[in-house]
Amino acid sequence: MTLNPVQLCDTILRDAHQSLLATRMRTDDMLPIASKLDEVGFWSVEMWGGATFDSAMRFLNENPWDRVRSLKRLMPNTRFQMLLRGQNVVGYKHYPDDVLQAFVKQSKAVGIDVFRVFDALNDVRNMEAAMRFVNEVGGHAQGSICYTISPVHTISQYVILARQLRDLGANSIAIKDMAGMIAPYDTYELVGELKTKVGLPVQFHTHYTSGMAMASALKAVEAGVDIVDTAISSLSGLTAQPPTESLVAILRGTPRDTGLNLNLLAEISGYFGEVRKKYQTFESGLQGVDVRVLQFQIPGGMLSNLTSQLRQQGAAHRYEEVLAETPRVREEMGFPPLVTPSSQIVGTQATLNVVTGQRYKVVPEEVKNYVRGYYGRPPAPIDPEVRKLVIGDEQPISCRPADLLEPGMDKARQDVGELARDEQDVISYALFPQVARPFLERRAAGADEHAAVIAAIAASLAVQVDQRPAARPCQKAGQGVNSWKQAWRPSRQWTNL
Ligand code: CO
Repeated sequence: MTLNPVQLCDTILRDAHQSLLATRMRTDDMLPIASKLDEVGFWSVEMWGGATFDSAMRFLNENPWDRVRSLKRLMPNTRFQMLLRGQNVVGYKHYPDDVLQAFVKQSKAVGIDVFRVFDALNDVRNMEAAMRFVNEVGGHAQGSICYTISPVHTISQYVILARQLRDLGANSIAIKDMAGMIAPYDTYELVGELKTKVGLPVQFHTHYTSGMAMASALKAVEAGVDIVDTAISSLSGLTAQPPTESLVAILRGTPRDTGLNLNLLAEISGYFGEVRKKYQTFESGLQGVDVRVLQFQIPGGMLSNLTSQLRQQGAAHRYEEVLAETPRVREEMGFPPLVTPSSQIVGTQATLNVVTGQRYKVVPEEVKNYVRGYYGRPPAPIDPEVRKLVIGDEQPISCRPADLLEPGMDKARQDVGELARDEQDVISYALFPQVARPFLERRAAGADEHAAVIAAIAASLAVQVDQRPAARPCQKAGQGVNSWKQAWRPSRQWTNL
């Protein structure tokens, strides 16, 4: 059973600007076009989650919850979709279950319908609580497969993962190709297998980075995919999704014609084309297709970081050696998909192995925590010799990492005190205490009326500086190495999650 016509999820309000404009689009720039977006007839509009929550408070002086509320008023007919990082919620570390549960409950209450749940390691233990909570509040739980290429990432393994997600209560399955690696014929095979062997609707998500995205989307359609993620053309391509209007045009007059109105879409695209100019300082400078991900199977953003880190250390001439070392470390680490935080873990260790001249002589705390199992279970076992070099005789944990965390909501409620006006503020604080406190203090001081001006000034000062925090380990897992954190500031491409 396949949904016909092909349904589209437009990412213009989340992944498109997260990928192209460093997640900086303000709610004020979304509201004027919201009712037009609502007229289109998308299956869903992805408009929240991922990096938007942090970015709203950190860079835009906006209450992230208000975005959902105000858009929902103007878009009553469209499903709202968000990206939920499993046990990492919308952050970069594992949070306790009570924080995750409160987050899901309030998200549903303000208007989120579809929760796309994923884990960077495809460890279902890091997704099961999120899926359960989404089901409890009556949301649509979408289980994700993080797509990568390695000897242990086979189509049959992905099918097994999708069945596990179905058994955990998934209403649909997402193929989440966050690095833009998936090739068209692999897409065809994967979608076909999922459609015949899992029995759930399949949604296809990729990035244009390597230039294959539209071909892959079309092969997904041919294989019977139900929903495809695209972005309105004026914020599409490059590291974002393939253009909505082009896919609509490609399918026009075919049995799977989307039926969407190209004139309406063109009008919306014109609007966002103008909006984009305001955020020019946040553009990556990428001019077109970046094929390096095909060459090395290393995401483009990670390669840029390797280059800049080596340059900082005066070791730029060792780039080729690091490039050769990276897949070796990835294999020893159990072939994690290279996304935040595993991309930093693998990239840093590979660099240290080369620069110090001795493999695993210097090991950052984050790598130790990864080997200890605090991020979850890697796709393949970690090399036993490497494990010994990294953590000696220490035994990795075998439980779900979040089982080691104390509940967080009561503590957050106490800590934030009267700065919180409602449960949503408490959750914002529980997730990002260092970002939420100054935000809530500014609000309490009545700074709201100047918020837009302050944010605009801050934004212009932040040019080329990505202030996103480095990945942090579980709370129980100790502190990281400062120099490592400074050296490994994730680039904007890494926010593609
Ligand atoms: Co994405």
